[in-house]
Amino acid sequence: MSETIITQTWPTPPHAGTIRKPGPGDLNVLAAIENQCFSIDRISRSGLRRFLTRSRQDPWGVRFLAVEHGACVCGYILLLLRRNSLIARIYSIAVMPEHRRTGMARTLLAGAESVAVESGRNRIRLEVREDNAAAIRLYTSIGYQTFGRIEPYYEDRTAAIRMEKPL
Ligand SMILES: CC(C)(COP(=O)(O)OP(=O)(O)OC[C@H]1O[C@@H](n2cnc3c(N)ncnc32)[C@H](O)[C@@H]1OP(=O)(O)O)[C@@H](O)C(=O)NCCC(=O)NCCS
Repeated sequence: MSETIITQTWPTPPHAGTIRKPGPGDLNVLAAIENQCFSIDRISRSGLRRFLTRSRQDPWGVRFLAVEHGACVCGYILLLLRRNSLIARIYSIAVMPEHRRTGMARTLLAGAESVAVESGRNRIRLEVREDNAAAIRLYTSIGYQTFGRIEPYYEDRTAAIRMEKPL
């Protein structure tokens, strides 16, 4: 059975969901989210399975969080916690199109930031496509700042903006 680990309680957007740790039974829905949300640089089904396994066996290396609305898993975030590093890294975040603009991503990011703080990290970083205005606006709205750029970075050679937030 799935375990609820964090309940969204802060006073922002309506129906922003509940966060829980996904299990092996969530692989299909996570793969569907990945396919719907990304056209390139997708995490393969076997990659998602590996992250799920690692998240359960070595929770301080990888943390996989899903956000639910009712009985529906509508998004996920993958957080990497390298040993001997004070910096957590968001590896991927995605929310199903029909659940966007309802605060789901903010909920996922708040959950990931809580995990990073609990694990002793003092900064959190991510890379985002330079042309992903929605995501850049999201990160900026909650305190992430640009500190670098890598070109090329993605499969189609688009540059990545590197962003960081102190925790
Ligand atoms: C980016 C993404 C995760 C945002 O998810 P979301 O659940 O819709 O985001 P939220 O509802 O929490 O949005 C929070 C804020 O982000 C910004 N934002 C999100 N989507 C936006 C859009 N399409 N246009 C402009 N601003 C947007 C807004 O500031 C928004 O606040 P507001 O709704 O009060 O104006 C989602 O669009 C997605 O899955 N995209 C495809 C995958 C992807 O690009 N992932 C990021 C990889 S770095």
